[in-house]
Amino acid sequence: MKNLVRELTSIIGPSSYEEPVVDFIKKTLKNKKDLEIKNDPLGNLIVRKKGKGKKIMLDAHMDEIGFIVKHIDKNGFLRFSVVGGLFPHNIIENHVLFVNGVEGVISYEDKNFDWKSIPKIDEMFIDIGATDKKDAEKKVHIGLLGGMKPTFVDLGDRISTKSLDDRIGCAILLKLALDDFESENDIYFVFTTQEEVGLRGAKTSAYSVSPDFAIAVDVTGTGDTPESHIFEVKLGMGPAIKVLDYGMVVRKPVIDFMVDVAENNKIPYQLEILRSGSTDGMMIQTNKEGVLTGVVSIPTRYVHSQAEMCDMNDVENSVKLIKEILKTDLSKIKGF
Ligand code: CO
Ligand code: ZN
Repeated sequence: MKNLVRELTSIIGPSSYEEPVVDFIKKTLKNKKDLEIKNDPLGNLIVRKKGKGKKIMLDAHMDEIGFIVKHIDKNGFLRFSVVGGLFPHNIIENHVLFVNGVEGVISYEDKNFDWKSIPKIDEMFIDIGATDKKDAEKKVHIGLLGGMKPTFVDLGDRISTKSLDDRIGCAILLKLALDDFESENDIYFVFTTQEEVGLRGAKTSAYSVSPDFAIAVDVTGTGDTPESHIFEVKLGMGPAIKVLDYGMVVRKPVIDFMVDVAENNKIPYQLEILRSGSTDGMMIQTNKEGVLTGVVSIPTRYVHSQAEMCDMNDVENSVKLIKEILKTDLSKIKGF
């Protein structure tokens, strides 16, 4: 599992440039003859494991936050815009890897630098080691996308790298798609695009799949580092079953169902009440006439940085929890 995560997080796939992730997922599933695989016009990858029962949509987004080149100055430095919620304090003097393989480092204008404030994105630039504009134009162009350079750090049970948000969700869905387990349900593993810029892939894929029940799998923050916000989610204490975030309130029958499955199978879990941010779950929940939707969140420190950290025990337990949910005959549950 750790190797799968390492491989998935080594891919650069900012929003709208998810094809390398799609290719990796297709390659990983190529021997699974029982799965139907298709792409939609927004780039979502929809993998179906046919069943006679209820339609269940599992969702994880393939895209990551990144950069786009918007200007090359006469000395060969690049000005950039962010793709998704990339925050200035997380990227100063980080290494960048563009989708064409060119590398660089992010720095900032230091003339007016004030130790008490963080430079704005507009005051930053990317240095690709070019000597002037002409030299830079040999390597990059306006509109070129990039992400943070992968730096996988193996800390034992815990790992730290870029884009655990949400390649960890992709890894969990892949593991479930690869595993052979009996289920009556009609299962759709949906790997979505453009989550980080507004949950856009989830919008179209939820519409086309039109599920009876859905689970989004994504990261959430934690409240377990020194002097952090009050937040009852800790690394290593089990998958977090979402109750509420900025974009959705999960309906009580869904929370009760997920909690029951966890308790009946002795899987550790936590309840998540997140103060900001949301997931594809928000978009799926309000699809068409509405979808019963839950979220399994992987507790993750330092979200949206090059050093996101999670605990592999939480990842394994998320696989267990979702597998038990998929095995449940949902038609027997009231309200589903
Ligand atoms: Co994110
Ligand atoms: Zn995410």
